[in-house]
Amino acid sequence: MHSKQHKYQILIPDRVAESVEIERAVFGEKAEFVLGHAAHANEIPDSVWETSDAILAWHELDYDESLLSKLHCCKTIVRVGVGYDNVDLKSAGQRGIVVCNVPDYGTGEVADHALAMLLSFARGIPGIAEKVRQSNEFWSWKKVGNLKRLSDSVLGIIGLGRIGSAVALRAKSFGLRVLFYDPYKPAGYDKTLGIERFHDLHKMLEAVDYVSLHAPLTDETRGMADQRFFAHLKPGAVLINTARGAIVEMDALERTLRVGRLKAAGLDVLPEEPPDRSHPLMKAWTNDESWLAGRLLVTPHSAFWCVEALTEMRRKAAEEALRVLEGGEPLNPVNAYLFSKENKPAATHHI
Ligand code: NAI
Repeated sequence: MHSKQHKYQILIPDRVAESVEIERAVFGEKAEFVLGHAAHANEIPDSVWETSDAILAWHELDYDESLLSKLHCCKTIVRVGVGYDNVDLKSAGQRGIVVCNVPDYGTGEVADHALAMLLSFARGIPGIAEKVRQSNEFWSWKKVGNLKRLSDSVLGIIGLGRIGSAVALRAKSFGLRVLFYDPYKPAGYDKTLGIERFHDLHKMLEAVDYVSLHAPLTDETRGMADQRFFAHLKPGAVLINTARGAIVEMDALERTLRVGRLKAAGLDVLPEEPPDRSHPLMKAWTNDESWLAGRLLVTPHSAFWCVEALTEMRRKAAEEALRVLEGGEPLNPVNAYLFSKENKPAATHHI
């Protein structure tokens, strides 16, 4: 319980927060904040980890067994964001730490970002915009390359959750035919959204011009977009990934792009962030190699970002931490099942 003598110590370990106005507005006088500005856990003294009551965790650090063992006072780790693949949920649960996320802040922005990438490729913009900057020789629609009408195109969505559904609605309004694959979605959402469900991922891939990833990173989805996945896509298809980098095998992506089977890829997330520029694909992109020109769009894990979304995300994360510290029920616990009597995942919990 909070008392006059004790102020909660809230640790924000990552390099993100320059000021804590948003969080302070939530906690008022109840907390003092420690900003780690760290890229690695060992940049923060053990004494800080040991005495923190709550952690507002962004996505840069891994909350694995060795880090969690340093948390002696921590009641909750709130992921300031949706994905919680960087937290060992089980180990945190065993230590009595409730892990929460903020699922409801940037759904629309991530969906917009995926669509922005899709539309850019559909209109041939990345390639021609760069060429036409270089020379008037390219000032012609004939230099754009073949474009296919959107209303004759098909989008496959992997993971029909909040973001995947928002993508489906947007894509429909552009006239695309929309398919989805999500083994955990209850029946009927195809009817709700007016889209088509596939229970076989590879069958869906065979039918699409664009595939957009919106599943979380789990043991099941890690490396899901591998050589076999790409082999099932139609030649000339486009991959969009705004979910998590490790869902895509970069070697397979590089090979498929290089042989021209995949037309283009839009990546907001990478297995290593910032990118490992020694990887052949990242190298070719860095060096602007001609075979890749206009075919790879990379953004720095910024799909969620806009002023309003960031503010909402930080406020909601702080509110969740305070709720737990004050003994309330968290709104978005992601390891709650570890605290239940049966000690088994709730039915709706899919990882
Ligand atoms: P959500 O939990 O609402 O939806 C995820 C969907 O994926 C669920 O319907 C689930 O059933 C499905 N799924 C799980 N395993 C699957 C599998 N093996 N195959 C196909 N579908 C599967 O999550 P939300 O809010 O839509 O976010 C999705 C992901 O987007 C997050 O996990 C996060 O990693 C990523 N994200 C990226 C951001 C960015 O800035 N690039 C920002 C926010 C989220």
